[in-house]
Amino acid sequence: MFKKIYFDYAATTPVDPRVLKAASPYLNEKFGNTMSLHTFGQEAKLALEKSREAVADLMGAKAEEIVFTGSATESNNLALKGTAFANRKKGNHIIISKIEHPCVMESADWLETQGFKVTRMPVDRYGLVSPKELEKAIKKETILVSIIHASNEIGTVQPVLEIGRICRRKGVCFHTDCAQSLGKIAVDVNRMNIDLLTASSHKMYGPKGAACLFVRKGVRIEPLLHGGGQEGGLRSSTVNLPAVVGFAEACRICKKEMKSESKRQVKLRDKLVKGVLKKIEGSHLNGHPKKRLPNNANFWFESVEGESIVIQLDLQGVAASTGSACSSVKLEPSHVLLAIGLKHEQAHGSLRVSLGRRTKESEIDYLLKVLPNAINRLRKISGRI
Ligand SMILES: Cc1ncc(COP(=O)(O)O)c(C=O)c1O
Repeated sequence: MFKKIYFDYAATTPVDPRVLKAASPYLNEKFGNTMSLHTFGQEAKLALEKSREAVADLMGAKAEEIVFTGSATESNNLALKGTAFANRKKGNHIIISKIEHPCVMESADWLETQGFKVTRMPVDRYGLVSPKELEKAIKKETILVSIIHASNEIGTVQPVLEIGRICRRKGVCFHTDCAQSLGKIAVDVNRMNIDLLTASSHKMYGPKGAACLFVRKGVRIEPLLHGGGQEGGLRSSTVNLPAVVGFAEACRICKKEMKSESKRQVKLRDKLVKGVLKKIEGSHLNGHPKKRLPNNANFWFESVEGESIVIQLDLQGVAASTGSACSSVKLEPSHVLLAIGLKHEQAHGSLRVSLGRRTKESEIDYLLKVLPNAINRLRKISGRI
């Protein structure tokens, strides 16, 4: 039988059947608009507020600090542009890292065209930002620090606890993109001194089309959308209630199962990493060996192209990727891999394998069987061995 194995959970996840069950009624019988005064609207409003509580609970926030949006891309745009425009009189300097998701990188690029100054923090060979260097980069004009919690490409987890402490001490707003980390590793907005936090439903077994921005009480941001005044005026648009209800259920499940599931995935991931490095000559792990997401393994292979590996694996029924889902359509090497010091040709030889709830040990074993063959074949074809 032809195998079909999914190893791209960092790109998106299947909706958990429990999430589907919770969200389905809101597509049909409970279809009211949360802004309507009648019973249909009230029922919808109640579900929205209950959902807000569940999402807030997973990150230790208060329900009223959660703003629902349509995607992490939107939340990150809102965090950067919203903070920049609300604090223009205070200062015009923003700090990000060199390994942010494109929606943060490009929001920062755009803000530069609007007169803001951006510092892009370098990272070490594992992809870690230095808190000390970050502290030095903060100036009196700095209004925002935005550092991704866990890299969507190489899985490295940043020292957000220290970064948050520095930002709080310096009185600078701290945003972190937790699209890949929330629901997989512990996140607590108070313990970590986070002022703004991005999370996305479809990365955690919820439906697509729902995400959130945590906005700490007292933190000022300007909305990107103007209109009906939903979400406290920060995100006008009729709320996508079925997706939001699903997002909330996904958060409840993560809260209950995160610890045991992450432990399970770490074991599988470590087996994979060990196996690949042992079986394939000229293979290297990207990202930090320990400080990484439980479900992320990212490699580079000498003398092969990542895209060719993805195609070869797909022919064997295995879905993996070269990097982020967004960057895989671009032909340029990943900015994250270049930032950790890889040369262009090395960055082109990368493969991201991301595990998930459905990943079984037998699938890891299968990958460990087909991947070395695929790489050998490609190296032979290109005459590199
Ligand atoms: C770290 C990170 N930020 C932002 C995004 C964008 O998420 P969305 O698809 O919800 O817009 C992604 C998705 O790949 C991501 O991994």
